[in-house]
Amino acid sequence: MTATQPNPSPRLADPSELADAAFAHCIMPLLPVAETREHGPAIYVRGEGCRLTDVHGHTYLDMMSSHTRANSLGYGNTEIADAVREQLATLHYIGTASNLAPVTIRLAETVASLAPEGLDRVLFVNDGSESVETAFKLARHIQQATGKPRATKIISRWNAYHGATMGALSATDWLGIRHISEPGVPGHSMIPGPMCYRNPFGMDQDAYNDLCVTWLEREIQHQGPDYVAAFIAEPVMQANGVQIPPDDYFARVRDVCDRYGVLLIIDEVITGYGRTGRWFASDHWGIRPDLMTMAKALTAGYIPMGGVITRGDLIDVLPIFRHVHTFSGHAAAAAAAMATIGILQREDLIRRGAETGAYLLDGLRDELRDCPIVGEVRGIGMWLAVDFTRDRATREAFEDDTVPAIVRRMREYGVLASAIGTAFEIAPPLIASRANAEETVAVAGRAIREIARERGLA
Ligand SMILES: Cc1ncc(COP(=O)(O)O)c(C=O)c1O
Repeated sequence: MTATQPNPSPRLADPSELADAAFAHCIMPLLPVAETREHGPAIYVRGEGCRLTDVHGHTYLDMMSSHTRANSLGYGNTEIADAVREQLATLHYIGTASNLAPVTIRLAETVASLAPEGLDRVLFVNDGSESVETAFKLARHIQQATGKPRATKIISRWNAYHGATMGALSATDWLGIRHISEPGVPGHSMIPGPMCYRNPFGMDQDAYNDLCVTWLEREIQHQGPDYVAAFIAEPVMQANGVQIPPDDYFARVRDVCDRYGVLLIIDEVITGYGRTGRWFASDHWGIRPDLMTMAKALTAGYIPMGGVITRGDLIDVLPIFRHVHTFSGHAAAAAAAMATIGILQREDLIRRGAETGAYLLDGLRDELRDCPIVGEVRGIGMWLAVDFTRDRATREAFEDDTVPAIVRRMREYGVLASAIGTAFEIAPPLIASRANAEETVAVAGRAIREIARERGLA
């Protein structure tokens, strides 16, 4: 063997050497460097169903769908792997723009058949951030072509997450990633959106929700309706754990957007393809987006892919859409998406996932009812959050590391959840079983009680 022929297999087996190599050569974003050094990088070597095995041989129940909530069908799905392999061997890639493989056309047709009514033209990209960037450009181009040539501004919401690239980041307000990369793209502004359990003004929740809708209208008036291209929102926001909107919020938002000729972009990057118990979270409230983004569970995480879908009458006003990504509509990713959607349909997994999610929600509510630091347990479909408080009367949030400590303790007991601001979040693969739900409830209860006791909170 020459020096240029790597033989990775023996090295893969040595945990400490791998960790050293990770610290030497991998940039691990989002985690403070010191914290990563203290706890070590999480290196996983194998997955099967909902279980993951790390480099030390420890096995975990992954109730976060690979942390990003993308892995909706669990690990080791050979049907998707086979579909990808077959496509790679037949025609792996055909370029971009007007070059299409049949599987990409079939995928567009399938996505259009599942999307909210009226959405029928898809452009595939490579991830969620690109789908958001593409939606912003489309919105601007459509506005220019339909009588609002100066409409470039985008309104988003406090605490929103729409991605890491500069345009998507400029509509983003979450994870502390915005300021350090500023200045962002000009023409973005933000308004408050509905929040569960506590809101930034300590207002009565109904009054606060009214304020959020009124604020959208005022912001459009303030920016100038002729200058505003679009309003973007996650239908269920991730910040501080699964923020489920009031039933009438999006109907009222739609009405405001219509009155001022503002396009409504619904960002379904997390929620699309079954996370909330419907194909798209928009379906819960009959939301009629002008543009809708998707990624993550589109391929169950097996291959990167994103997309944006809009209406024919909107896209048809553009003689040309000046936008290109090298790997748009990649045939192997399209094959993964087709296989993913086929499995969801055949196994009725969105309905079954919603049932397991409801069972998990009931279980957590029962288990945690008497925990004084648990403020609210909420969920929709297979997306749940436990929101914590120092004081159930004032709903004061923990500012210290109590929530991350609970999640770390759960990991020690073999269940992966995610700390997300004031809450922890659970987003299991849709294939998770009732037994997986029961294990999660038991581990969550034990971890929360232990941490509360150790910190004198119970
Ligand atoms: C709602 C939403 N939009 C966009 C993105 C960005 O997607 P990606 O990380 O694939 O670029 C995310 C990622 O978490 C997201 O949650």
